[in-house]
Amino acid sequence: SESSALLFWQHLLAVFSLSVDDLKKIAAYKAVEHVKSGMVVGLGTGSTAKHAVDRIAHLLQQGKLTDIVGIATSMKTHDQAVSLGIPLSDLDTHPVVDLAIDGADEVDPDLNLVKGRGGSLLREKMVESATTKFVVIVDESKLVKHIGGSGLAMPVEIIPFCWSHSLKRLVNLFADSGCEGKLRRDSSDGNGEIYVTDNGNYIIDLYFERDIGDLNEASDAILRLPGIVEHGMFIGLATSVIVAGVSGVTVKTK
Ligand code: 5RP
Repeated sequence: SESSALLFWQHLLAVFSLSVDDLKKIAAYKAVEHVKSGMVVGLGTGSTAKHAVDRIAHLLQQGKLTDIVGIATSMKTHDQAVSLGIPLSDLDTHPVVDLAIDGADEVDPDLNLVKGRGGSLLREKMVESATTKFVVIVDESKLVKHIGGSGLAMPVEIIPFCWSHSLKRLVNLFADSGCEGKLRRDSSDGNGEIYVTDNGNYIIDLYFERDIGDLNEASDAILRLPGIVEHGMFIGLATSVIVAGVSGVTVKTK
């Protein structure tokens, strides 16, 4: 079960006195080794990507990196980068990104991802589909056999208009997979304010009891629904995944 898996991880980490955050930092620092002076760099969002942004800023301050231009994947990352003095631009000015570094919620053996539990999937996908190299950074708890099969959320960004109708249509698409959908709210008890993305949209979190089958077919079906903006499956976008675990760092490449 989910709680026994969590206990197992906590036990292992305690034995080696490494926190999950330590692992995230190890993966992030390893990825930043790929950043070279003069690059346009996609800056990811989340607790793992935050370490990469900190590290890039540190290397810039030390003069070990120069002429970096960052493209932030969320307002949160934008604000972090501005506060650390990382020069920023956007895809209008820099349509080709040299390298993007970001975390993920799930990673399958083919390097397909689920992203967006932090709510930034749309800008992340825009930046990470415009990059030459996309390095994903995770601790080993994010590795799964099939994405969407972990029992945790697969986020879909939708426009606010008639959100309940969009929720029903999404759930109906995956009726064979025992799908449930929930409108994301600011607090997890279901009573908080509706969560609003940086783009003024809402998020439906989909949960599946069974495998969703072919990922490209699932993606096409979701994107064909009017009112849907983007989903959190990142299929075939990652170039490599850096996984930090208690026994060390491994790099998975396509
Ligand atoms: C945000 C994301 C994050 O990359 C993902 O949720 C992983 O976050 P964390 O590094 O905090 O575990 O997709 O939209």
